[in-house]
Amino acid sequence: MFRLSLEFDPFKVKVITVLSVIFFIAGVAVLAAYNSAVDYTNSLSFCANTCHEMSIPYGEYQQSKHYHNSFGVRVTCPDCHVPHDKWTNTLFAKILALHDLSDHLFGHMSGVVDTKEQFEKDRLEMAKKVWARMKEDDSRECRNCHAIDALTSSDQKQGVRGIHLESIATHETCIDCHKGLTHKPVHTLAGGPATAFIDIQ
Ligand code: HEC
Ligand code: HEC
Ligand code: HEC
Repeated sequence: MFRLSLEFDPFKVKVITVLSVIFFIAGVAVLAAYNSAVDYTNSLSFCANTCHEMSIPYGEYQQSKHYHNSFGVRVTCPDCHVPHDKWTNTLFAKILALHDLSDHLFGHMSGVVDTKEQFEKDRLEMAKKVWARMKEDDSRECRNCHAIDALTSSDQKQGVRGIHLESIATHETCIDCHKGLTHKPVHTLAGGPATAFIDIQ
């Protein structure tokens, strides 16, 4: 039977102390490495330059209000594309992104060329995934910056206020209307009209 020994054994105490210190240092090192990896992969230059096909959405984004606006606020790729609420969601998104990276590398090795044509061919499918995720999480990343109660406050233009008030009643989320905001209006490929703010499912 297990019996708790209250005897003081200096050797055991030493071993436990040394192990605790080693585990503590290893834990800090893993955490630091994880944080550095998240910071690095969340940087605008990583997103824009690591895979050269990302130069296409990057170029489009540079034309958008999220890149340059009169307030000088720069919204970056991960602000919209990486979850920010909980570290577990960030970790999960990073693990999924490893899958993109392996597709990219193995695609190269098996001779699939990541040309502009290939990107355009895959674009609608990629966009659908982003729409589905934003629909599912109620456009959470948009709401990190834009508050619906601010969009419906009396200092908004009447039209803008009215539309957003109504969207609360109809349970529509940002991405239902604001497709093609930062990138080429890819929703037109799915048969939608050429203007943004259109809901196509
Ligand atoms: C990190 C903060 C941030 C995030 C995240 C963000 N925005 Fe913005 N958004 C801004 C800023 C800043 C502006 C520029 C304001 C201006 O110049 O009028 C802006 C402008 C806009 C505009 C008006 C300009 C335009 O391009 O038509 C819309 C619409 C908009 N955002 C919707 C969204 C939606 C939808 C999302 C989520 C997919 C989103 N935003 C994510 C900060 C953010
Ligand atoms: C039912 C459709 C709909 C939904 C849902 C919706 N919007 Fe809009 N939004 C619009 C329309 C239409 C405009 C006006 C566009 C214009 O005037 O050019 C607009 C304008 C805006 C603007 C620009 C305001 C300005 O003064 O220029 C921002 C920012 C914005 N929406 C963000 C959001 C965010 C964030 C969400 C989610 C919380 C959201 N919208 C949900 C349709 C919608
Ligand atoms: C303001 C939010 C926002 C920012 C900033 C943003 N994106 Fe997107 N991105 C979206 C949305 C929303 C979609 C879904 C398609 C659509 O509606 O345009 C999307 C779609 C995509 C797609 C799928 C292909 C396509 O055109 O739909 C890629 C790839 C992509 N983004 C990469 C990037 C990269 C790289 C950056 C930074 C250089 C970036 N995005 C910045 C919101 C954003």
